[in-house]
Amino acid sequence: MALMEVRQKAKERLRDICRVCRICDGVACAGWVPGIGGVGTGASFQNNVQALARHRLNLRVIHQVEKPQMGLSLFGHQFTLPVLGAAVAGAKLNFRGLVTEEELSQALLLGAKAAGTAGMTGDGPDPALFETGLAAVRAADGIGIPIIKPLEQARIKERIRLAEQSGAMAVGIDIDAAGLINMTRAGKKVGPKTGKEIAEIVASTSLPVIIKGIMTPEDALAVAEAGATALVVSNHGGRALDHTPGTAEVLPRIADAVGERITVLLDGGIRSGSDVLKALALGARAVLVGRPLAIAAFGGGAEGVRLELERLRGELEAALILTGTTSVSQVSREILYRESPVF
Ligand SMILES: Cc1cc2nc3c(=O)[nH]c(=O)nc-3n(C[C@H](O)[C@H](O)[C@H](O)COP(=O)(O)O)c2cc1C
Repeated sequence: MALMEVRQKAKERLRDICRVCRICDGVACAGWVPGIGGVGTGASFQNNVQALARHRLNLRVIHQVEKPQMGLSLFGHQFTLPVLGAAVAGAKLNFRGLVTEEELSQALLLGAKAAGTAGMTGDGPDPALFETGLAAVRAADGIGIPIIKPLEQARIKERIRLAEQSGAMAVGIDIDAAGLINMTRAGKKVGPKTGKEIAEIVASTSLPVIIKGIMTPEDALAVAEAGATALVVSNHGGRALDHTPGTAEVLPRIADAVGERITVLLDGGIRSGSDVLKALALGARAVLVGRPLAIAAFGGGAEGVRLELERLRGELEAALILTGTTSVSQVSREILYRESPVF
């Protein structure tokens, strides 16, 4: 199966749910929530894509970098590329039951595992959704990360116990779902957390804890202080709050503020190997990809997801060579083009 076929098949299957645009930029699907789009005007989703597009890379070819180092270790696990699968859940609500939750989560996790990385699973108003994600984590032999909604403390801890039992390598909370309409419409209590509450969650498990949905240095410092292993600079793919900046815009200040205290990841609008490299140059250790992998899952199941990740790997390798970057763990901000001052 070729990636072209995967995309064609996804287009036929998804029809009015997702247009499978040449570049997935949030324009055609603005406001499609539930669905695949961003909330409101779709500005937050679009800002993610535009923030990355605004950066340009310095092409360097007078050097000796021919085989750049692509792998990295995260959460005690070796990844073959700095790209993870983001949680894309809610088959019934967002994809009108075109596939089952089980098919979607297994395609995302098994495809990511086959590419030498890991995927994440989601959570929703119906607890069965979270448990279906855990079954996918088990099917992937623990190579998966369940992401829990910011529910009441006791409920989060219950879900963490279940995640531990599934053998998951880490666990996360998408804290930016504090006001998510899918949850509030269904009458589920989600809300913001204090640093103390996050510290309590971190202390309740031996698994690495990832806090997803950080957009300011202040929140990032609080999460680092609370002892989380990693944070994801994310606006939930533009599905939480309308009119936020793009994640790549806020990343450098967050990375500078926390330094080495916490692992910084980023998602939102990553569409190419060049985008991955730009995010690494701006301070992320690795990135998450959401919609493109979900689309690939609709077009080709786990194999479609693997092929999409292989495309990103090929593009990233070329971008590393063409910027003279030896390793994904040592990406200089200097590879980003800065215009000379105008006199
Ligand atoms: C249909 C859909 C469902 C999602 N469900 C979840 C979820 O259950 N938990 C979560 O943490 N994030 C969820 N997300 C957000 C993604 O994990 C991720 O942050 C975002 O999609 C990244 O942006 P990108 O799609 O532009 O790559 C969802 C996104 C979409 C499009």
